[in-house]
Amino acid sequence: MARAVSTFTCSACGHESPKWHGRCPGCAEWNTLVEEASTRRSPSGRARGSALRPVPLGEVETPPVKRLRTGIGELDRVLGGGLVPGSLVLIGGSPGIGKSTLTSMALGDLAAGGVPVLYVSGEESAGQVRLRAERLGPAALRVPIVAETDLDAVVATLEAERPAACVVDSVQVLYDPALSGSPGSVGQVREVAGRLMRVAKQRGIAVVLVGHVTKEGSLAGPRVLEHLVDCVLSFEGERERTYRTLRALKNRFGSTNEAGVFEMTEGGLVEVADASERFLAEATRGPGSAVLCAMEGSRPLLVEVQALVAPSELVPPRRVANGVDRNRLALVLAVLARHAGVALGSSDVFVSVAGGVRVDEPGADLAIALALASAARGLPLGGGRPVGAFGELGLTGELRHVSHADRRRAEAGKFGLEPVLEPGESLATLRSALRAALPAQAARAA
Ligand code: TYD
Ligand code: MG
Repeated sequence: MARAVSTFTCSACGHESPKWHGRCPGCAEWNTLVEEASTRRSPSGRARGSALRPVPLGEVETPPVKRLRTGIGELDRVLGGGLVPGSLVLIGGSPGIGKSTLTSMALGDLAAGGVPVLYVSGEESAGQVRLRAERLGPAALRVPIVAETDLDAVVATLEAERPAACVVDSVQVLYDPALSGSPGSVGQVREVAGRLMRVAKQRGIAVVLVGHVTKEGSLAGPRVLEHLVDCVLSFEGERERTYRTLRALKNRFGSTNEAGVFEMTEGGLVEVADASERFLAEATRGPGSAVLCAMEGSRPLLVEVQALVAPSELVPPRRVANGVDRNRLALVLAVLARHAGVALGSSDVFVSVAGGVRVDEPGADLAIALALASAARGLPLGGGRPVGAFGELGLTGELRHVSHADRRRAEAGKFGLEPVLEPGESLATLRSALRAALPAQAARAA
């Protein structure tokens, strides 16, 4: 196949040019030209442009989706029941979080069940991958590996080996020699994913792409990668901490409402089935501690939100958020100041979710606000009895309902957190929630 020449296409206006420009000659936008292999063939070999016969949706056949169960329960659940043959899954996460460990374990379990698998390592040598597999046990050592970054070689290997499942670690280091862009560039990543997708679909291979995320948390490389793949999973947590969560951000074959909790141990990742119990047992119950009844996908999860408020020397003062969104923290601080009489404008504020878990939902607002107020007053919530809370804060200081209130309440009840502070008729505003959780504060304010 002739694919020596490349063209450059503007991702904004579609202008095509034989050479790269910093500024698009078509629309004058900067840095929009992306290199593409110019030889385009009709993918099906059909004469180009021949008419198709539309089929009513009711007559479209839907073959049952067969799935490859990896044997890692939390991973299978987040995938929607296992890997789908012919699909592309992208697992993103920051370096050191455990992407290679998770994918090696999954392939090991599949191999142990007699499923042909392949591990393509572009980042580490085969020897390095072996050292990891030794920690993970005999199943992981059965996984066949190639250490390669040349896309042509990888595609040829897939064609020759025809594994049922393949991991490419990582998509950012593979490159197509016909393109001049360096590995990890927009054009390269797009080409790598596109060609792997074609082999995956043609040969029914379930391909798992490992991807890096940038400091800001988005997947490095183009957004187009997220559009191309069938499923985007995000592996989150802090490298120094033991807990990690796996979430589906996009899933063409299942729900995006699923999340799994893992713990990194000496012998690999272990699923954490009793996460609520563990986090609750570790909760301090001191000033600045609140228990959030969160939802991890469709499962309720109790996590401790901790806050520290200290006099600041800085203008503006520090706002540090671990495990919660910075913008949510800013909103909670503003509502506390304007509607609940807790002004922290001259204090450094630190908020973190214990265990390194991330909670990215509006339902976390109330627990964050309670933890902050408790820290600011130096008083424990509920007089030292653990207090569970959930609910969203509105901009006018009102408490707003969030989804799955019954499940959150039930989980709290299971571990003896009663009553739970949640939006309702008796608890309509943040001020009333503070009064209920910090009675001493009300007395002082009066
Ligand atoms: P790794 O899977 O290489 O992370 P990623 O591919 O996301 O960059 O592993 C991350 C860390 O986990 C690494 O610092 C070593 C540690 N680790 C364990 O604690 N136990 C284990 O069994 C393994 C394999 C790794
Ligand atoms: Mg890795």
